[in-house]
Amino acid sequence: MNILIIGSGGREHTLAWKIKQSPKTTTVFVAPGNAGTAELATNLPIGVSDFDAIKKAVLQHQIKMVIVGPEVPLVEGIADFFENDDQLNHVLVIGPKKHGATLEGSKDFAKEFMAKHNIPTAKYQSFTAEQLEQGYAFLDKMKAPYVLKADGLAAGKGVLILDDLKEAKLELKAMLVDSKFGSASTTVVVEEFLSGIELSCFVLTNGEQYKILPFAKDYKRIGEGDTGLNTGGMGAISPVPFVDKDFANKIEEKVVKPTIEGLKKDNIQFNGFIFIGLINVDGEPLVIEYNVRMGDPETEVVFPRIKNDVVALFEAVGNGTLDSIALEIEPKTASTVIAVSGGYPEAYEKGKVITGLESVEETLVFHAGTKTNNNSIETNGGRVLAFTSFGNNHQEALEKSYQNLQKINFEGMNYRKDIGFDL
Ligand code: AMP
Ligand code: GLY
Repeated sequence: MNILIIGSGGREHTLAWKIKQSPKTTTVFVAPGNAGTAELATNLPIGVSDFDAIKKAVLQHQIKMVIVGPEVPLVEGIADFFENDDQLNHVLVIGPKKHGATLEGSKDFAKEFMAKHNIPTAKYQSFTAEQLEQGYAFLDKMKAPYVLKADGLAAGKGVLILDDLKEAKLELKAMLVDSKFGSASTTVVVEEFLSGIELSCFVLTNGEQYKILPFAKDYKRIGEGDTGLNTGGMGAISPVPFVDKDFANKIEEKVVKPTIEGLKKDNIQFNGFIFIGLINVDGEPLVIEYNVRMGDPETEVVFPRIKNDVVALFEAVGNGTLDSIALEIEPKTASTVIAVSGGYPEAYEKGKVITGLESVEETLVFHAGTKTNNNSIETNGGRVLAFTSFGNNHQEALEKSYQNLQKINFEGMNYRKDIGFDL
């Protein structure tokens, strides 16, 4: 079968690498892909939101399965587009339709869903510009730090955490009245600050049956010791050492099951991944957010640990037989460290030649922002490469990633040297 992956990051390279290993796969296509996906798949120069061009490619290459990497095309309705098109509705899309994608596309919708289905999360209230005064009054009643969230997609930048009440009110006004995050902050969720350690839970589901994939923890801040600006993710580890049987059980009973039940009750059809951002507050899992796709860089540690034929798993989502498959998980720890461009997550340059890739050993290199230029591989984004290794524990796995990172270079290359520091 021919399979198309939509996206261009480390997540999509990892998915392409894993899908390529399935005996069910004939050719893997990636739109638009990167220099890494070009080595094992066919890149198509198509943007993730260009549904008409995607349709043409699907028909031309007789593609039978589409895996949607990033959230934007899902929120824009790519799965509905396939379902409503007579020439495309036989294609299995791994990714929810618009209604389900609203769990990521609107934080207010997600919070309402959690409240309705008794899913543990921070206390909150939502406000629009007309309700600014009520917003101020709500902030007056809260304790610092204050958490303000733009309702819509804001490329990971829409969450502000502020220590000062005055500043929180100014920011609330900037978001609601001055459109600080454009239309994404037409509604703002104000919520209670939760203190604890975060982790990521990934669920593959068809809206009725589900599989919980390996837990992972990512490191979002640019600076060591979790300091500085937020990034797309600087590294990840799976499994998560503090998730024992008891905590995993709580996550399944208190969060995953009510989430799946909630989808059913609300008549939300959902084929794809639910990425539940969790925080461990005194031994209890609380939901920070839902995403409707795999995480990046978590995919770079989660998928290498899945031993199953993933194409068979995706087919089981499509035909309702997930329950008949048992997940087989590599018990070793996988860790990934991301090499980023100098300056990222602020302004950075592209087009720097990457050297030394041929000398990497015992480590999987997944490309994120790379492109081929003549015979060389160049940087083409903020996050450039993910170095994934296995070990008996996260220290051992990380050591391999760090050893291999020293073998490669590009001008301005930066990476965090303390992934796993808090475990
Ligand atoms: P989100 O986009 O909702 O995942 O928020 C981005 C980041 O902000 C999260 O990964 C957390 O580190 C932090 N965050 C969000 N909500 C809260 C909260 N209620 N309490 C503490 N930290 C939060
Ligand atoms: N690693 C966080 C994300 O993919 O959003």
